[in-house]
Amino acid sequence: MPQMVELIDVSRDYGDVDVVHALRHFHLRIEQGERVAIMGPSGSGKSTLLNLVCGLDEPTTGVIKIEGIELSRLDDDARTRLRREKIGMVFQTFNLLSTLNALENVALPLRLNGLGPREAERRGRILLERVGLGSRMAHLPDALSGGERQRTAIARALIFQPPLLLADEPTGNLDSATGDDILHLLDDLHREFETTILLVTHNELAAAYCDRIVRMRDGSVLREERLLKTGAEIEQ
Ligand SMILES: Nc1ncnc2c1ncn2[C@@H]1O[C@H](COP(=O)(O)OP(=O)(O)O)[C@@H](O)[C@H]1O
Ligand SMILES: [Mg+2]
Repeated sequence: MPQMVELIDVSRDYGDVDVVHALRHFHLRIEQGERVAIMGPSGSGKSTLLNLVCGLDEPTTGVIKIEGIELSRLDDDARTRLRREKIGMVFQTFNLLSTLNALENVALPLRLNGLGPREAERRGRILLERVGLGSRMAHLPDALSGGERQRTAIARALIFQPPLLLADEPTGNLDSATGDDILHLLDDLHREFETTILLVTHNELAAAYCDRIVRMRDGSVLREERLLKTGAEIEQ
C-alpha cells in the first residue's frame, strides 16, 4: 500500500521581494491509519503544510503525494474531486455556512458532488447521529454551541468517509471540557473508520492522542517523537 501522505523536499515561499520561507525542504511520510500531530509556534508553517496536503495551495518546489498520487499531475477538476472524496477538513473556526442548518451543512459536499437532496440528507442524518447531534439537525449554526458546531463540522468532513482527515487546531476555540469531548470523538472515529489523521494543535493532550508528534520551527522539522501510548489509552 502506498503511504497515505508523502511530502518530498517541499518548500513554500510567499512573496517575491520580502520572501517568507513558510516551509523549507520539508519531508513527511504518513502511513495509512496513522495519527500525526503537528506542533510548533505561530508562524512555523503548520497551516501552510495543511493547505499543501489538501491541494488548496501548491509548493514552490518539491513533490506531494496522496495515496501515491502526485497532486501536481492532477488538473483542477481532478484535484477538487480528490480533495472532496479523499480528504476531510476541520478548522478551528468551524467554517459552517450560517444560512444552512446543521443537516444542510453536512449534506452540502454530497449535493455539490451531484447527489440528490433526499439521499444526501439521509447520509447526513446518519453522521449527525453518529457525532451525537441527532436532535439538533435543524438548527442553524448560530443556535449551536461551539462543541456542537465542531461536531457538525466533523460530520461534514467525514461525509465521504475520507481516508484522510486534516484538522487545524480543532479544539482551539473550545473550552477544555468540550475540547476533550471532540478529541474523544476523533479517537472513536479513528477506531471505527481507520481514518488517517493529521492534526495541528497547540495542546499537548490533543497531541497525546496521536501516534507521532512532529514539532516544527521556522518551516522545518525541529524534532519528531513517536508515542508508545496514546492519550485515550493512558486515561484507561
Ligand atoms: N498567503 C500568505 N502570504 C504571505 N505570507 C504567508 C501567507 N500564508 C502564510 N504566510 C507566512 O508563512 C509563515 C507560516 O505561516 P502559517 O503556515 O500560517 O503558520 P502557522 O499555521 O504555523 O501559524 C508565516 O510567516 C506567515 O506569515
Ligand atoms: Mg495556523
